[in-house]
Amino acid sequence: MRIVVLVSGSGSNLQALLDSAGSSELDVQITAVGSDVPGCGGLQRAEAAGVPTFSVPLERGASAERRARWNRELCAEVRRHNPQVLVTSGFMKILSEEFLTRLGVPVINTHPALLPSFPGAHGVRDALAHGVKITGCTVHQVDAGVDTGPILAQAAVEVRDDDDAASLHERIKVQERRLLVATLDALAGGRIHLREELSQECGEAL
Ligand code: GRF
Repeated sequence: MRIVVLVSGSGSNLQALLDSAGSSELDVQITAVGSDVPGCGGLQRAEAAGVPTFSVPLERGASAERRARWNRELCAEVRRHNPQVLVTSGFMKILSEEFLTRLGVPVINTHPALLPSFPGAHGVRDALAHGVKITGCTVHQVDAGVDTGPILAQAAVEVRDDDDAASLHERIKVQERRLLVATLDALAGGRIHLREELSQECGEAL
C-alpha cells in the first residue's frame, strides 16, 4: 500500500513508520512526506531516510481565500505522489472538505486522546485538565469535521498523579506509534476496512 504522510513537528510517529515500512511488520511504501512547516523535524527524518519531501507553508492569520488556495496547492502536491492512503500524524492544520473531495483517497489521522473525548489541538492538555484517570490515543479515518471520523483503533494510557502534559504526552506517543503501525499494516493486509462511502463520495466528486 502506498502512503504519503503529512507532519508539522518533530515526527517521532513518522519515524516509527520510516523504521518499519517495507518490513514484515508494515507492508507499506512511503512515497513522500509533506509539511506546512519547512525544515521541521519530520521532514529532516524523511530526508535522512531517503524519502522525497515537500513543503506547502501557510502564513499565520491567512485569509479564507488564501487558506482555500493553500488547500488546493497541498492537495496537488500530495496527489503528485500517488498515495492510496494519506496519513496525517502530528499535522497541525485542518484539511478542508474541498481538499478531501479533490484528493479522492482516504485520509487516516492519529490523535493523542480517546475520541470522541478531547478532540482538537490540545487533546492531552484538555484530558489532564478534566482530571480523567485513563486517556490514550485514537487512529481514525478523517471526515469533514475535526477529529470526528470513524474510529479504527484505540489504546488506553493511565494518567499518573504526578503527570504534566509533557510526561503524559510522551507515554501516549509510545502507544500512538505502535497503534499507527499496527493499524496501517492491518489496512494494507485487508484486515480492517475503511468506510466505503467516504472514499466513494470523494471519487464521485472528482
Ligand atoms: C502526536 O501525539 C500527534 O497525535 C499530535 O502531535 C504529536 C506528534 O508528535 N497531534 P510527533 O511530531 O510525531 O513527534
